[in-house]
Amino acid sequence: MYLEEQVALVTGSGRGIGRAIALALAEQGANVVVNDVVEESAEEVAARIEEMGVAAMSVVADITSEDAVKAMVAAIMDRFGRIDILVNNAGITQDNLLMRMSEEQWDTVLAVNLKGAFLCTKAVARPMVKARHGRIINIASVVGLTGNVGQANYSSSKGGLIALTKSTAQELGSRRITCNAVAPGFIETEMTARLSNEARQRMLERIPLGRPGQPEDVARAVVFLAGPAAAYITGQVLAVDGGMVM
Ligand code: NAI
Repeated sequence: MYLEEQVALVTGSGRGIGRAIALALAEQGANVVVNDVVEESAEEVAARIEEMGVAAMSVVADITSEDAVKAMVAAIMDRFGRIDILVNNAGITQDNLLMRMSEEQWDTVLAVNLKGAFLCTKAVARPMVKARHGRIINIASVVGLTGNVGQANYSSSKGGLIALTKSTAQELGSRRITCNAVAPGFIETEMTARLSNEARQRMLERIPLGRPGQPEDVARAVVFLAGPAAAYITGQVLAVDGGMVM
């Protein structure tokens, strides 16, 4: 266990990849703040974490609202007095071909995936700068590197998140805060369960390791980046995709 005493905030961790990340950080001894917009799932994950013998706190907050994000970080500081790790994981898709994509579909996806990450990063930056320590890990996507048909909004948000990762790494590096991105490929979660069998098959054909990833595959990379072994790594994008993009 190498994250004992530390406090981690994982956005959108009521289910899927975020949930796996929250549990994996707790396994390393971190106290974990489970954020989501769905109260029951956040509470379920927080209860699981408490059973592991560390502290957990569930916070229902929409990360697209600056007021909600500020209130969440204030509540974390009140309860724990520190925040060591931020994982910007909350993300949504609203796929459509470019010519059919509405302004609302564009704005909604960018608001959660990119603005939400910016607001959370900004809110934790002050306590991290004061502490001269911090790890920020952004869950991007391989489509942020390659683009994707039907995902102009989503791939742009993830490409933007990668650029945000690098800007944050440059601005906060002198305060011993690292910022890295993890770019998952095709991971089996409720988000991808909506894909047709045909789309799923096409994805699998592009994966050299020949299988979809599991949320735990992503969580292990995040735990590495949050831990002491990654102290000298910043501004990087680590693909966790079975070799899909290289
Ligand atoms: P998911 O849809 O299973 O879980 C996302 C969670 O975020 C949900 O619990 C949802 O309630 C929460 N959320 C949504 N909007 C929110 C908001 N405004 N504020 C707070 N929480 C909010 O998704 P999944 O698959 O676990 O994805 C997690 C992250 O990984 C996302 O950023 C996604 O883009 C990324 N990703 C997923 C891949 C996959 O194959 N599943 C591939 C590449 C990236």
